[in-house]
Amino acid sequence: MNYSMTTMKIHQIFFKNTLRNFCYLISFSDGAIYCIDPFHSDLVLTHLKDQKLMGIINTHDHCDHHSGNDELIDRFGCEVWAHKEAIVPGKTKNLSDHEIIHQRGEWCLKSLYTPGHTMSHLAVMLEKDYKPYALFTGDCFFNAGVGNCHNGGNPEVQYETISKIFGNFPDELLIYPGHEYLKRNLEFTKKYEPHNTDAQSFLNIIESQNLDEVFYINSMKIERTINTFIRLNSSDLRTELHLENSDEKKVFLTLRELRNRW
Ligand SMILES: [Fe+2]
Repeated sequence: MNYSMTTMKIHQIFFKNTLRNFCYLISFSDGAIYCIDPFHSDLVLTHLKDQKLMGIINTHDHCDHHSGNDELIDRFGCEVWAHKEAIVPGKTKNLSDHEIIHQRGEWCLKSLYTPGHTMSHLAVMLEKDYKPYALFTGDCFFNAGVGNCHNGGNPEVQYETISKIFGNFPDELLIYPGHEYLKRNLEFTKKYEPHNTDAQSFLNIIESQNLDEVFYINSMKIERTINTFIRLNSSDLRTELHLENSDEKKVFLTLRELRNRW
């Protein structure tokens, strides 16, 4: 669990399903608790004990991000927020880009439109004093990687989202991804950036760890050293791909194709 001051708590829940989903509970000091992407209700209910859930936020409409909705709605009668075009169980509120979901003291929870993995994908931004503090990325961005575009997505749109939105985030922003794919993603970075010592060092650290129990919350600063999808001008990468003189979009789309087959 991560604490910041006394007015907000983030609790990360890991499901040992084959897709290795994460779900998050965000608690504010006024008692409001939101759940992002409940794959299943059991661990959510275990953590909540007798606390009431105010709302569910689904980053997108793939079932591993909303299959816990119905049981939580039955139990709490809670709101369900998702993008206006996302089809999720029990939706009560449509979200567009930059809509405020909850505000308490210096904290503000907002939607951020991040299409590409699907065309109705939202990330959830937690701001502190009007500055980006933490981002719940669903499947648009992972530790050391990005989501695929197989089910309703578009790689060219994904490139725009990753380069224009993620490219402008501050180094301090903390990333809370929708899945635990760290090792596999680091290995992909290492394959196409063989001289990336940061990726190798991270791999060395996690080699002896149980990644069903140890989880990393990386900052954008760390991601900028290990996530090859935001390192499109790396000479190492461009040499490996034989794309020394190509534009960034071509490098991204080539990586996307390679990662699809990885
Ligand atoms: Fe997904």
